[in-house]
Amino acid sequence: MSELEVRDVWLTYPGGVEALKGARLKVRSGEIVTVLGGSGSGKSTLLLVAAGLLKPYKGEVLLDGKPLDEQLPSARRKLGVVFQEPDDQLFNPTVFQEISYALRQLGLNDSRIQEDVRKVAVEVGVDHLLHRSTFYISGGEKRRVALASVLVYHPEILIIDEPTAYLDPRWRVSLENLLKKLKGEGRGIVTATHDVDFVARISDRVYLMKEGRTLAEGDPETVLTNVELLQSADVEPPSSVKVFKLLGGEGKPPLKLEDLPARLRGPPV
Ligand SMILES: Nc1ncnc2c1ncn2[C@@H]1O[C@H](COP(=O)(O)OP(=O)(O)O)[C@@H](O)[C@H]1O
Ligand SMILES: [Mg+2]
Repeated sequence: MSELEVRDVWLTYPGGVEALKGARLKVRSGEIVTVLGGSGSGKSTLLLVAAGLLKPYKGEVLLDGKPLDEQLPSARRKLGVVFQEPDDQLFNPTVFQEISYALRQLGLNDSRIQEDVRKVAVEVGVDHLLHRSTFYISGGEKRRVALASVLVYHPEILIIDEPTAYLDPRWRVSLENLLKKLKGEGRGIVTATHDVDFVARISDRVYLMKEGRTLAEGDPETVLTNVELLQSADVEPPSSVKVFKLLGGEGKPPLKLEDLPARLRGPPV
């Protein structure tokens, strides 16, 4: 069991942008937690703080109850970070070298590396790209390679910024299934996104951010159906909530479109 907690962090970038002004986050093994907020609300900064890659001037980052920075660099293996921009992450000439990088650092033997890389490449659908240049593949392919390069060493906590960026609809579905599978294996997952429909489908808990602050935290049924709260954070409600209200639905809106018909019919009379 692992637990990563960010407590009341404040961070100002060089140049004076106050990106975090009291933000928090907690993720445990076996749950998917989402940070939702408008563009510039501090989501990516919060994830970088959680990963120990940016240091807040106030507040704490705890891994299993102890300060993360006192556990580095060994704790790095427990955390897997997928950056918002794959070009900030990928640095090896070929896809195979990129995905195998962490395993080579760990000193695994060649046949084990081949096997593990192939397995994770199949899982994220990049096995046909292994010999290709990392730099001349599409945005969506880069995102999947970046994810594979992290999954390959089985971190306990996955921190994934904008998981659905550049992904086509088919890969959104695959990603949803993959994240749920990882959760089932006991991994803790943190994502940050403004993709509220995706959030509604995958999250066990949602943090809502605005202007560097955590505005609200709760289960998705509560946070994502509170239209006023979402709008105050410049976030649209999920499509299912919007359609439910447009069609005059009463009571609790559903979080998934496929649950709309049953919810609109209401309880049997
Ligand atoms: N490297 C940086 N240097 C200076 N300001 C930054 C940097 N990265 C982000 N910011 C600023 O910090 C704020 C929060 O950014 P970010 O965490 O990227 O938000 P989000 O991920 O929610 O879009 C924004 O005002 C952004 O312009
Ligand atoms: Mg961001």
